[in-house]
Amino acid sequence: MTRYTEPKYRTLFDAKENELERLKEKSANSPWKPAYHIHPQFGLLNDPNGLAYFNGEYHVFYQWYPFDAIHGMKHWAHVKSADFVNWERLPVALVPVEEYESHGAYSGNALEVDGKLHLYYTGNIKYGRVERSANQCLAIMDQDGTITKYENNPLIEGVPDGYTGHVRDPKVFNRDGRFYMLLGAQRSDLTGAIVVYESDNAIDWAFKGELDLKLDLPDSVYMLECPDVFELDDHDVLVVSPQGLKADGHDYQNLYNVIYVLGKLDLDSLTFEVDHYQELDKGFDFYAPQTFSGKKNERLLFAWAGMGEVDYPTDQESWAHCLSIPRQLSVKNGRLLQKPVHELKQLRTKTETDEAIVVGSKAIENNTNQFELEVDFADIESNQFGLELFVSETEGLVLEMDRTAQTVSLNREKFEAAFGGEYGFVRTSPLKINQSVKVQVFVDRSIAEIFINGGEVVFTARVFPKSESKGITVFGDGKLKVSYQKHKLAQ
Ligand code: FRU
Repeated sequence: MTRYTEPKYRTLFDAKENELERLKEKSANSPWKPAYHIHPQFGLLNDPNGLAYFNGEYHVFYQWYPFDAIHGMKHWAHVKSADFVNWERLPVALVPVEEYESHGAYSGNALEVDGKLHLYYTGNIKYGRVERSANQCLAIMDQDGTITKYENNPLIEGVPDGYTGHVRDPKVFNRDGRFYMLLGAQRSDLTGAIVVYESDNAIDWAFKGELDLKLDLPDSVYMLECPDVFELDDHDVLVVSPQGLKADGHDYQNLYNVIYVLGKLDLDSLTFEVDHYQELDKGFDFYAPQTFSGKKNERLLFAWAGMGEVDYPTDQESWAHCLSIPRQLSVKNGRLLQKPVHELKQLRTKTETDEAIVVGSKAIENNTNQFELEVDFADIESNQFGLELFVSETEGLVLEMDRTAQTVSLNREKFEAAFGGEYGFVRTSPLKINQSVKVQVFVDRSIAEIFINGGEVVFTARVFPKSESKGITVFGDGKLKVSYQKHKLAQ
């Protein structure tokens, strides 16, 4: 079959004269470029890929389309850091120039095998606007950082019988001396699934079957993207990005959503028994997360702080999206918690601390949108109370707790550059509110990541404020004690 052609399927090597320089200039002065979040210099970033602590450094790759803020030919961009604070941009890791990846080097993960970092990814193949296939591929990074595509690529050619061309996003891991690869897939009846391959050597793969995930996902789910599985605190955890979940009460309000599942994975019978599942992040811009093992074997996560099919204000500037900050995962009382990694404390430059009894509202002095804020609300005699960020006369991002409803909501409607309204401007989560609530916020120019009660509830939200929208306000409709620490962050 002949391959599909469209201008957006060209690689970096096909850049016209000065094209990349012009793109760089066009997005260079954006006030919305994050300072300490991984973001593209220009073009569109989406999923984090190939995350690894390897040879003393953290490597982060991400899906990248260089030429515009649209989804086109995906490359793997590459950054690294020894400390999660100082990032170095490296040459693009994967440029899809081969037949087996003719329409992009799609997402995948990394695994250290015999002292080298294996980068597994999907070679995307398009025959038409819709018709497609997929190959599973490998590139290998040496100790010295040289990345070479495997000479016998693809590892897995085409898709297994019974599935459409949507089979992608390899997650390779080792359990009890054997290697397994999970792939997100779509069955021929257009419902979503996860398929499993196995291998003795992480190179030669045999189809094992479909994972029987004991979850009653509705038939509207047409694809499971980016499956990820790991062991944590005596649980097996599956994180996956289903497409086609319908909004249900406060859940699944985004076009595409992410869930985590706690339970037990049996790789012999290919079953995943489910103890609990729920949405992983309650914000607007969170998708395709990937986890990996850190320096001390801790389970870490980065996500794409963005959402497909939504237009973002920076599209005009030919760049879009960033990754979340790295988060450490843990399981407590049968729930998955997410916390900012402790390394981010190194970003703190200046700290201000204060405490006050608030009735009505109180401003916290602030002149930069590059900060971390830790707020404790205590002795709560308010029904509705909370915090407003990016405040000016006309703008503000409102986080509001409701004690009667036992919920917390985030509202991003009040911005001149409001966007994504077709999916609603408010996200809500249940929250146990008794005498106190702790909120930790990371703000970085055009993103807020909000961790409530030690990561029980997390909201990731992009906002695009005017330059004067830098205020912070705490409020309550009754009395409450507010103590806070505000850290200016460097970079
Ligand atoms: C998720 C996803 C993956 C795919 C990649 C392509 O956002 O659609 O399934 O590999 O993005 O960029």
